[in-house]
Formats: sequence, C-alpha cells, structure tokens
Amino acid sequence: MEEILVHGGRPLFGKLEMPTAKNSILPILAAAVLTRDAVCIHRAPFLQDVETSMQLLAALGCPAVRAGQDLLLSCDGPVGDTVPRPLMAAMRSSIYYLAPMLVRAGRARLSFPGGCRLGARPIDIHLEGLTAMGARVTARGDLLECDAPHGLHGVRFHLRFPSVGATETLMMAAAAARGETVLTGAAREPEIRDLANFLNACGGRVTGAGSSKIVIRGGRLHGCAYTPIPDRITAQTVLCAGAACGGEILLERVPFEPIRPMARLLTQAGCRLRRLDHDRVELVSDGRLTALGTLSTGVYPAFATDAGPLLAAAMLTARGTTRLRETIFTNRFGCAKEFARMGADLDCRGNLLSIRGVPALRGARVEAGDLRGGAALVIAALAAQGESRISGVEYIRRGYEDIGEMFGALGAAIGRSAQPERETTAAGR
Ligand code: EPU
Repeated sequence: MEEILVHGGRPLFGKLEMPTAKNSILPILAAAVLTRDAVCIHRAPFLQDVETSMQLLAALGCPAVRAGQDLLLSCDGPVGDTVPRPLMAAMRSSIYYLAPMLVRAGRARLSFPGGCRLGARPIDIHLEGLTAMGARVTARGDLLECDAPHGLHGVRFHLRFPSVGATETLMMAAAAARGETVLTGAAREPEIRDLANFLNACGGRVTGAGSSKIVIRGGRLHGCAYTPIPDRITAQTVLCAGAACGGEILLERVPFEPIRPMARLLTQAGCRLRRLDHDRVELVSDGRLTALGTLSTGVYPAFATDAGPLLAAAMLTARGTTRLRETIFTNRFGCAKEFARMGADLDCRGNLLSIRGVPALRGARVEAGDLRGGAALVIAALAAQGESRISGVEYIRRGYEDIGEMFGALGAAIGRSAQPERETTAAGR
C-alpha cells in the first residue's frame, strides 16, 4: 500500500505542459474498435484507466501496444462479445465498449460498470438510445445481455439529461449504423467534440458536436492517427494548487475556453490569471484568497463537477464563506471529512458544501475515496503546514500520471512512501 507524502506550505513556481485528457482518450480507444484498420493514438498518457482499457481491448481480441507516447491498436480479427467482470468493475468507462461490441460482434455480455463512488451512476440513457437503434437489451441481476444480430439503424433520439457517456455511446453506435442519427439534448463537453473529430478522422460523418444537436451519418470507418485534446481537469488541479499555495505558474497546452469558469472564480478570489495565447495560461497568487459566496457546478459550459472538490480545497483557507452546490452527482464531496482532519471548518449536507475559511490547515493522514476528491486532498496538503500522508493513491492514479512528479516540478516537497501495514491497522482505516 502506497501513500503520497507531502510537506506543505511552500509556494509553487514553474512551467507545466498539460497531458492528454483522460476523458478524451478513454472513449476514443473504445471507438477504435469500430474499425478493422490500424489506429495510432499519439500522446497517450500513462494512466491506470488507460492501462485498464488496454486490458479490456486485449480481452476483446484487439491488443493495443505502446510505442513510447503512442498507442497502436488494430481490431482486424473477430471482436469478443464478453467483458470480464473485474474489468467492468474497474472503471465507469468500460461501458464505452458496449456500442463497439454490438457493432463488431453483434452482441455484448457485460456487467454494470464500476468507477468512482460519486453516487448512483445509472446507464439507462445509454441503453434507451441503443434500444431505439435496434438493440435488444436484457438485464439479469447485474448482468447485461445486448444483441443486435441485424445491426443498428439510425434514429432521432432525445437525451433526457445531457449525459457525457450516453452521448458518446450513441455517437459510436450511430457512426457505424445504417442511415442517419440525430441526437438532441446531447452533452456539449470538449471531449464530445474530440470524439467527433476522431470519428471524422476515421472517415465518419459527424456534425454539430459541441452543440446539443449532433447529426451522425453512419458508414464504414477506416484507421487513422490521432492526438486527443489536453486535460482541462488536470489544468484546473494545478491552478487551484497554485491559488492556494501562492506562487507563479505557467501552463502550456491548455486551451482557455474549457477552463474559463475556473479562471473567473480564481480571479474573483484574488489571483491574477492571464491568457498568454491560444493555449498558454499564467497564474500568479499570493496565497491569500477571498471566499466566493455561493456557486454551483453544472453541465458544460458551466463550472465542471470534476472541478468542484479542487476549488473547495483552495477555498479552505480563503477569507470568508464559500458554499458550493453540486448538481450532477449525489456524493461529490466525500473528501470533505478528510479536509476536516486537516483543520478545515466545513459542513457538508447532501450536495451542499459550506466552507468557512480558516487561517491555516495542518498536515494530517487522509484517505482518497475517489479520483478528484483525492487530487483535492493533495491540493489541501500542499497548502497545509507540516506533513500529510494521503492513501487511496490508486484512485488518484486513474487520472493523474504521477501527481507527485507534477507538483514536484513546481517546487513542492512531495513524494511517495510505502505505508507500514501495522500503522494502517492501528489507524483502523
Ligand atoms: N446519468 C443517468 N443515466 C445515464 C447516464 C448518466 O441518469 O444513462 C446521470 C448520472 O447518474 C449523473 C449524470 O447523469 O448524475 C452525469 O453523468 P454523465 O453520464 O454525464 O457522466 P459520465 O459519462 O459517467 C463523465 C466523466 C466524469 C465527469 C462526468 C460529468 C468520463 C470518462 N467521465 O462521466 O469524469 O464527472 O462526465 O462531466 O468522461 C472524472 O474524470 O473524474 C470523472 C468522474
């Protein structure tokens, strides 16, 4: 068992280039199964969820190999129809393989996907859309049997909620279906546009991605080489850490539009944020922040749910009260009780987190219970006085290549330690 070890209280200085977005590369790897040709993904990050995707691809008979920063895969043989249960449980993104399996194998046998414990995460919209396209779906306990022996057909489908995953599932299905599909009520996140660009690079005909109406004309896809977009959530993680610790940070490979809501909030809190050109942003902070009053997360282009815990971490020592309402997931603030161990003054009722800023946090032993909550604990530990130990590193590694190395490059005193077994038991974790 591993821990992240942080000696907090140092300002952060330096320059970082943002890695490829986890939430772009995961659906794109699944979409690569739609074609029999070779696909090359450039700048593939070394994330646990990418590793899990590679295991899943191998289980389907489409092995992906790494060549440095590139991932090469080719699904020219028969595609399997079953995803092993542990791979479904390992991440929410395993559900992205449902539509490609239906297209290539005509059927799919899988269990419901796992993932971060953010509350109930149903897949009913994915299934409704696929059913409307001609799939037969049967759920037996937590087993899902889906068949499309005669292939899928185009459809007009309205998503009752702009689910990112369901929009992506239906785009993949539609790209290989007979005829035209019109999705309304679609999610508008930058990662949706990125998936559309990948499908179009494979010869797909997708228009409107990035708006709530997406039109997809189905057809045969071919291979391509593709570089997914940079990670807007990693960028916001670094900005929140810089805001809380103070310092000067230059971020490269970070388009401004997707981080605009965060940039506005950090500016309001007292940081200086400058957009230098199309993909460089500079943050200057003296670490003395002012609370933000009441704000909410929402679907894109609103302030992102994934960024909520990150901003909360920065607000723990801001002057005044910040109330953050989460509107997408029911259990976004699992990290709140861990913040409290560091001396934060907060109150979490349902989806409302109220933070009364304290003059300083103190280092503590804390445990990550989900990916972004874990990153938020790292931010709080960087800003705290003294030593913190963060366990649950496996959650953080799902979405950050090496968070210690990333903040170490900015001058943070951060590393990893093996966790002594006896202490773990004594602490009752
Ligand atoms: N929902 C349904 N039915 C569905 C699908 C979703 O009711 O069929 C509900 C969910 O329960 C949730 C809401 O819709 O309350 C949003 O879910 P969505 O499908 O939009 O999220 P997702 O596709 O499961 C992606 C990201 C998440 C990010 C959300 C929201 C990926 C791999 N994951 O999840 O990222 O929080 O969109 O933007 O793209 C993360 O990176 O840490 C992460 C959790």
